[in-house]
Amino acid sequence: MKIFLDTADLAEIRRAADANLIDGITTNPSLISQVAGDRDPKEIYREICELVDGPISAEVVATDKETMLVEGRKLAALHDNIVVKVPLTEDGLKACRALRSEGIRTNVTLCFSPSQALLAAKAGATFISPFVGRIDDISGEGMQLVHQIRQVYDNYGYDTEILAASLRHPMHVVECMLIGADCATMPPKVLWQLTNHPLTDRGLEAFLADWNRLGAEI
Ligand code: G3P
Repeated sequence: MKIFLDTADLAEIRRAADANLIDGITTNPSLISQVAGDRDPKEIYREICELVDGPISAEVVATDKETMLVEGRKLAALHDNIVVKVPLTEDGLKACRALRSEGIRTNVTLCFSPSQALLAAKAGATFISPFVGRIDDISGEGMQLVHQIRQVYDNYGYDTEILAASLRHPMHVVECMLIGADCATMPPKVLWQLTNHPLTDRGLEAFLADWNRLGAEI
């Protein structure tokens, strides 16, 4: 399963990239607005693309097909790594199909049902982003959606990659691995939580204490 970081925080991206832990980045307008300040968001996208050699999702902000296309082409021209994120609306699906025909990769976002995911695959989406945590937030079963999309795509042989999004904790990531999601995108905090286990810390502490009693060197 590919691991993506869901952030525009360059320090966190650098840290994860240095550790070779990530395969790509997802952003959205909210994440960009948290870090941009006075900077042009396009510069931030370029910088992210230089840090991570993998798919970097950059989202359009228009809501009509024609302007989405203009924005999508501009974003795609920034760097070969850019994947254009479009919302799962009627216009978003039309833009997805048109971008696909121009050879531009897309990530169809804000997916909350398996039928939406089917339509995105038919429109030629490279990635579909089901938002797991936001369904959990309203007392639904977010992970059930990832299960259903996996089954639909396998039933019909669609190659659109399932990019599970809005993941909030390590067990969400584990469930994605078991279901067979192609990618999971997570905030930096969740990525760092994945590396930790208290038994690893306790075991290492005991090994080092035993070794230090020897007073030897390697
Ligand atoms: O990037 C999209 C998605 O991962 C958003 O997550 O936590 O805002 O629901 P969240």
